[in-house]
Amino acid sequence: MPADRKARVGILISGRGSNMAALIDAAGREDCPYEVAIVISNVPDAPGLAYAADRGIPTFALSHKGVKRAEFDLLVDGALRDARIEYVALAGYMRLLSPGFVDRWAGRMVNIHPSLLPAYKGLDTHQRALDAGETRHGCTVHLVTAELDDGPILAQAEVPILPGDDSATLANRVLVEEHRLYPAALAALIRRTDAVQPPAAIITPGQE
Ligand code: GAR
Repeated sequence: MPADRKARVGILISGRGSNMAALIDAAGREDCPYEVAIVISNVPDAPGLAYAADRGIPTFALSHKGVKRAEFDLLVDGALRDARIEYVALAGYMRLLSPGFVDRWAGRMVNIHPSLLPAYKGLDTHQRALDAGETRHGCTVHLVTAELDDGPILAQAEVPILPGDDSATLANRVLVEEHRLYPAALAALIRRTDAVQPPAAIITPGQE
C-alpha cells in the first residue's frame, strides 16, 4: 500500500462503542494505515453512533428487528460497499452474521472478543473465567469466520485475575487492553496484506 493511502475501514457496533472510539482515535495518527469511513449499527440509538458523528464520520443505523438475517446483512453490505470499505471491524457487534456476509468479507473482517480464545467464546466471559478459578484472562482479535468467536487469531493481550475481582473490575482491566490491542492488530493486518493495492496496470503488448 502506498504510504500516503489509507485503507477504508467500516466499523459495526451495537452499543457503547468504546472499541470503536479507540479505532477512530488511532486512525487520527499520521502513521495509521487506515481511516474509519463509516460506522454502522443494528441498534439505532447505540451510544457509539454519536461519538462517530461528532467526529464527522458517516453513520448508518438500521434496526434488525423484523428483518431476516440474510436480508439485513445484505443491507449492511450495501452500505459498506457504497462507502467503498475495504476492511470491516466488528466492535461489540452483537449479531450472528449470515454465511454469505462472512464469505464476502473473508480475510478482511476482524472481531475483538473479551477472552483468551479459544477459551470462553460467547457471552459473560469475565464471570465464566472467575467461576472457573482462572488466574489469567484477556482479549483476542481474530479474523471472522462462520463459527462464533472463531477464526485465525491475530493478536491477544493478557491480564491477571486478582484476589477480590468481580466481573466488573475484571471487565475494566480487560477493556483497557482491548483499546490498545484492537487498533494495533488492525493496523498490522492492513500493513501486511497487499489486498488494498490497486490492481496492477495492464500492459498491452507493444506499449511497454
Ligand atoms: C467489548 O468488551 C468487546 O470485546 C465485546 O463487547 C464489548 C463491547 O464494548 N465483544 C464481544 O463480546 C463479541 N463476542 P464496546 O461497545 O465498548 O466496544
